[in-house]
Amino acid sequence: MTEQVTDAAAKKPADASKANIGVVGMAVMGSNLARNLAHHGYRVAVFNRTYAKTQKLMAEHGDEGDFIPSEHVEDFVASIAEPRSIIMMVKAGGPTDATIDELLPLLSPGDVIMDGGNAFFRDTIRREKYVSDKGFHFVGAGISGGEVGALTGPSIMPGGTPESYQTVGPMLETISAHYKGEPCCAWMGPNGAGHFVKMIHNGIEYSDMQVIGEAYELLRGVGLTNDECAAVFEKWNQGELSSYLVEITVDVLRQKDPRTGADFIDIVADRAKMKGTGTWTVQTALELGVATTGIAEAVFARAESSLGDLREAGQKALQGPDRTVQVKDKDAFIEDIRKALWCSKVVSYSQGFDEIRAGGQEFGWDINVAEAAKIWRDGCIIRAKLLEQIRKEYTDDHKLVSFMCAPSIAPTMADYQDSWRRVVAAAITAGIPAPVFSATLSYYDMARAPRVNAALTQGLRDLFGSHTYERVDDHGHFHLEWSGDHSETRID
Ligand code: ATR
Repeated sequence: MTEQVTDAAAKKPADASKANIGVVGMAVMGSNLARNLAHHGYRVAVFNRTYAKTQKLMAEHGDEGDFIPSEHVEDFVASIAEPRSIIMMVKAGGPTDATIDELLPLLSPGDVIMDGGNAFFRDTIRREKYVSDKGFHFVGAGISGGEVGALTGPSIMPGGTPESYQTVGPMLETISAHYKGEPCCAWMGPNGAGHFVKMIHNGIEYSDMQVIGEAYELLRGVGLTNDECAAVFEKWNQGELSSYLVEITVDVLRQKDPRTGADFIDIVADRAKMKGTGTWTVQTALELGVATTGIAEAVFARAESSLGDLREAGQKALQGPDRTVQVKDKDAFIEDIRKALWCSKVVSYSQGFDEIRAGGQEFGWDINVAEAAKIWRDGCIIRAKLLEQIRKEYTDDHKLVSFMCAPSIAPTMADYQDSWRRVVAAAITAGIPAPVFSATLSYYDMARAPRVNAALTQGLRDLFGSHTYERVDDHGHFHLEWSGDHSETRID
C-alpha cells in the first residue's frame, strides 16, 4: 500500500488544483470507488447530480484522501487534469446516456469516459461508437466485488481502445484486488468486451449460488440442522471448493434472526430476485449457440421460485416424495455431495468460459480467456480456488476446447462422477429439485457420448418438414421420400 501511495503521489498532476481522475455518481458504489482511489494517493474529483450526496461523502470521508468536490458538472470536468479519466457510477440505462450527454460538450480530445456500472454489453458497444465518433474514448468496465470490493479492491474488467486503457488502466490496476501480487484488472478487448465478461461472471455467480443451494437442501434432506450444514460448508471451504460464496454461505446459515432468534435462513422468503445479468447471459448464449445449461437452470430456478401462483397451485395439486433423503451412510453421502458440487461447478465454469470465447469470436474481441480467469481469482464474488486452475489450463493450452476436458480436471471428474450420479439420483428419488446438479451432469454425459439422440431429431425433421439429414458414411445433405417410395435424394 505504501508503495502504491508513493507511486500515485508521484503521478499527481503538477497543478495541485487538478485531479488525477473524476468519479460521477456518489451512491454507494461510486463513493466507495472514489474513496478507494483516494486511499491509493490519487487526487479524486467527485460529482453527483444531487449535490447533497457529494457533501455527505466529504463530511463523512473527506479526510481520508485528496478530493476535489464540485457542485456543477462544468467545474467538475475543469478540475480534472488532461487527458481526463472520468468514471461514471450512475444508474444503468437512461441515466448513463444522460450523464454521457452532459459530459461530452465539456471534454477535450483524448479524454476517457468510463462506465463502471452493470451495463448490457450491446449498450456499451453502442455508447463506445457514439462517444468515439465524437473524438473521445469510452471504456465499459465491469466491476465486481460489491460495495466492500469497490472500497477495498474489486475485480475490474475494462473494455475499450488500447489507448484508453493506457490512460485509465494503471489507476484501475492499482485500486483493484491483487492475487499474489498480480492485479485483478486487465484489458479484456474493444468496446463491449469488458461488460460482456462481467455479464458472464454474473451468470456463473447465479449457477454457483444455485448449486450451493441444491447442496444445502440435500444436506437438510439427510437430516442436518442449519448449524450442521454450516459446519459442513466450513469444512468444504478448506479444500478444493474454497470460494467466497461457500465462505459466506457459512455466515448466512449461522446467522440468527434478530427479531425472533430463529435461524435467519428459515425466516427469509424463498423467492429469489434478479437484476437481469443472468438473463442476459442466457439470452446471449442462445444467440451464440453455446449450451450454458448450468447458468440457464439457475436463472429458471430463480424465476420458478418467484412464481407464487404456480407454487401455490403445485403445493395443492402435485404429489411426490417428502424431500427426505434415505441413506445408509450419512457421512459418505455428504462426501458425495461435495464431489457433485465440485463437478457441477466445473461444468458451469466451463460453459461460462465457452461463452466468453464464443462471444469474443462473434464480436471480434479475441478475448484472452486465461486473462478473464486471472482477474477473477480475487476481488469478485465468484473468486474461488478453481479459478487459478482455470487460468493455468487456458494458459497452457489456448485452444483448450472445454475446461472440463482439461488434463488436470477430466481425471477428477471421472473419479467423482459416481458420487455425482448418486447425488442426482437421490435428489430425484427424494423429490428435491436439483436443476443445476442434473443439467450439468446431462451436459457432461452428452459431451462424452459416442452418439446422441439428435439423429432421431434429424429423422423426424426430415419426415415432417423435409429439413434434410446428413449421413455418418457420406458427405452432403439428403432427403428421404417419406410419403413415396422411401428412396433417398441427395440435395447437395
Ligand atoms: P441509489 O443507490 O442512491 O438508489 P440510484 O438511484 O441507483 O442510487 O442512482 C445511482 C446514481 O445514479 C446516483 O448518483 C444518482 O444521482 P442522484 O443522487 O442525483 O439521484 C445517479 N442518477 C440516477 N439517475 C440519474 C440521471 N437521470 N442523471 C444523472 N444521474 C443519475
